[in-house]
Amino acid sequence: MCLATGNTPLGLYEELVKAYQEGKADFSQVRTFNLDEYVGLTEDHEQSYHYYMEEKLFKHINVPKENRQIPDGMAEDLEQHAADYEQDIYAAGGIDILLLGVGVNGHIAFNEPAKELSDITHVTDLSADTIKANSRFFADITEVPRRAVSIGVGTIMRAKRIVMMATGASKAPVVEKLLNEPVISCEFPVSLLRAHRNVTVIVDKEALGKIPQENIEQ
Ligand code: GLP
Repeated sequence: MCLATGNTPLGLYEELVKAYQEGKADFSQVRTFNLDEYVGLTEDHEQSYHYYMEEKLFKHINVPKENRQIPDGMAEDLEQHAADYEQDIYAAGGIDILLLGVGVNGHIAFNEPAKELSDITHVTDLSADTIKANSRFFADITEVPRRAVSIGVGTIMRAKRIVMMATGASKAPVVEKLLNEPVISCEFPVSLLRAHRNVTVIVDKEALGKIPQENIEQ
């Protein structure tokens, strides 16, 4: 699996923990990768995605430690680390199920709107929009890391199945654009999902915005 962070998957992780505690789910054979990690935050930094995964999911379930990989934003050679991470996903046989949130600007993982997008795992600069959006988790906007290691859009598109989730009114414009505009553009990275054969989009009422229900079920 490839796992996401952010607010959106928190409810899902709670459900997975519950299923594990009730004996309905077993993760002992699961191997996980994560979408991304900030550059420059140590594993024990409360806003690092390492910390998030440990607190919200891993410490409550039984994915073996050696089966989990998250990009290392503290790696000495970040470019090499990104290349190795991509290779590890490939060697693992690729991603079966990939969980995805979406940024208010349409980014997926940390693939920000741009003229061109990276196919593979890479080091990237965060956009001003994303720095602003993610500053809610930090004491001050100046503390938000400026860079991240992120899997590429190709890494995402090679997953066998994608589950994309969006919640809250701030995501309504993105969801509406994704579902209503038959256009694929690197300037709106989530639109690439339109070309994937096996995507499930899960949204709450607020993220659905003004889209009529009957249009969604098709
Ligand atoms: C972050 C992450 C994404 C995440 C997105 C939405 O910047 N890099 O992987 O999907 O923003 O976050 P949230 O779910 O908190 O809205």
